[in-house]
Amino acid sequence: MAFDSRLQRDIMGRFATGVTVVTTRYKNGDITGMTANAVMSLSLDPPLVVVSVDKSATMHSALSDGQCYAINILTREQEHLSNRFAMPGPKDFSDLILRESKTGAPILEGTLGYLDCKIVDILPAGDHDMFVGEILAGELGEGNPLLYYGSRYQSIAEGQV
Ligand SMILES: Cc1cc2nc3c(=O)[nH]c(=O)nc-3n(C[C@H](O)[C@H](O)[C@H](O)COP(=O)(O)O)c2cc1C
Repeated sequence: MAFDSRLQRDIMGRFATGVTVVTTRYKNGDITGMTANAVMSLSLDPPLVVVSVDKSATMHSALSDGQCYAINILTREQEHLSNRFAMPGPKDFSDLILRESKTGAPILEGTLGYLDCKIVDILPAGDHDMFVGEILAGELGEGNPLLYYGSRYQSIAEGQV
């Protein structure tokens, strides 16, 4: 019998993560994004990261089409962006200050940092696919991280960062 998926979620929920918004640009120029914490640094040489994306998410087809993404790491003041980009369907960027990096994926303003990546591999992983990205550009920002733990947003205690 397959391992209980609720228990898997609950146990992995004890693994504290940061929160990112992964953005992309379709070939027709449209942009979209998705809140993601299944993000990992994969290799330093070559510089690779990976994002695991649900096959049923709009973002899955967007990434397959655009062949690029940016990982935007959120600050604790950007919880509203995490909520916005966790809603399924088209995403509203109209009130956001955006920059374009090398691949054309939109870079969000005021994050802890971003990585701009070209997709070099798509690895199957059950009901998700893993989009491996080669890092073409990136920058560090400033601030305190937004954390996700036990299915809730958390932040590091004042004075601990
Ligand atoms: C904190 C948090 C982390 C998430 N991480 C992921 C993730 O790593 N991969 C994923 O496929 N969905 C993740 N999701 C769910 C997506 O953000 C959500 O399904 C979203 O509606 C997808 O939008 P789309 O279908 O318009 O692409 C996460 C949601 C939250 C709140």
